Amino acid sequence: MGARIAIVLIFICDQCPAMTEPTLSLIPDFDLSARNTLALTARSRFGVLLDRPEQIEALFALAEERNLPLRLLGGGSNVVLSEHFEGITALLATKGRRIVATHADAVVVEAAAGEIWHDLVTWTVEQGLGGLENLALIPGTVGAAPVQNIGAYGAELADFFDSLTAYDRLEGRAREFGPAECAFGYRDSLFKRSPGRFVVLSLRLRLPKPWQPNLRFAGLAELAGEAELSPALVMARVIALRQSKLPDWRLTPNAGSFFQNPIVTQEQAAPILVEFPAAPNFAQTDGRLKLSAGWLIEQSDLKGFRLGPAGISERHALVVVNYGGAVASDIAALAAHVKRTVLARFGVALHEEPIFL
Ligand code: EPU
Repeated sequence: MGARIAIVLIFICDQCPAMTEPTLSLIPDFDLSARNTLALTARSRFGVLLDRPEQIEALFALAEERNLPLRLLGGGSNVVLSEHFEGITALLATKGRRIVATHADAVVVEAAAGEIWHDLVTWTVEQGLGGLENLALIPGTVGAAPVQNIGAYGAELADFFDSLTAYDRLEGRAREFGPAECAFGYRDSLFKRSPGRFVVLSLRLRLPKPWQPNLRFAGLAELAGEAELSPALVMARVIALRQSKLPDWRLTPNAGSFFQNPIVTQEQAAPILVEFPAAPNFAQTDGRLKLSAGWLIEQSDLKGFRLGPAGISERHALVVVNYGGAVASDIAALAAHVKRTVLARFGVALHEEPIFL
């Protein structure tokens, strides 16, 4: 492999002062193996690092000019990257977080898309601001968080959402989005449903005052009696819970939950609940039931199952692991096997949570 040569392209933006001209450095044959938490062997014809939101327009113009496909990457924690991408992979590395408003009933914080989600959670808790502590340790960036409406331990991003700024490639401008427009659902949003159209640039979250601890989740309920209950204490428990259940991607590369928990009709669930009355199930507002994908996979005898270099974690059946040297096709083959097996055993179709890029 030859040494990487950085081609520096200067774009003149007629609305920007001379000092803030967006400069893009295209890196050829860009290695992404260390930039996805599944540690898949993956390369891109070009890579580019964006550290200022103004560079977005220049990036789209460049991709169009060169007639190359473009994809955006945050923390690489919820993606299955193809072995080779014949285009430009842009990494959003914009930084910054601040309190933007203090109201009687809430504090609004803002963070740039490239910030690490867990660092934002820790920072808010350090500021004495509660709300995000149940969402501690979720891997990935702030910009990726609203795309799949991240959630854990009885909370999800939508609960704290104020607004976000995203660049709309179709309209050719950045604009603000309120909660209704984002159309958040379970691990879903407008941005997830329109791949390639939007780039989230910054996110604003509304943290209610006074703090209302959310201890509904089984592993947190026992904290209710604590005299010194604080966001920091809940965060510490959430971190301990996650560490006890989920393999650490730094040690065992993975992308967190690999399948969404399926939401099925009462009719679909009935035979499962007759055979296994204790099968985990959660009633939805529309009368359907959310089943546990981890449970279905474990009951299909797939916990710890391996196919080549990929496998289902021995610790948590919802987590797909790269045991070394896996590429996207290994992950796809394993996922297809799991989906086939669960469908044959329980008649339930599973859907992947990560995006295949
Ligand atoms: N279960 C099994 N076997 C397993 C794992 C789980 O039978 O190997 C069953 C157990 O009965 C358990 C139930 O599944 O009680 C639920 O498991 P868990 O509490 O771990 O939650 P989950 O539904 O598997 C979801 C999120 C996680 C989040 C946890 C905690 C999804 C797809 N996953 O997992 O999110 O951390 O709840 O709130 O909704 C992620 O999105 O990457 C992620 C880790």
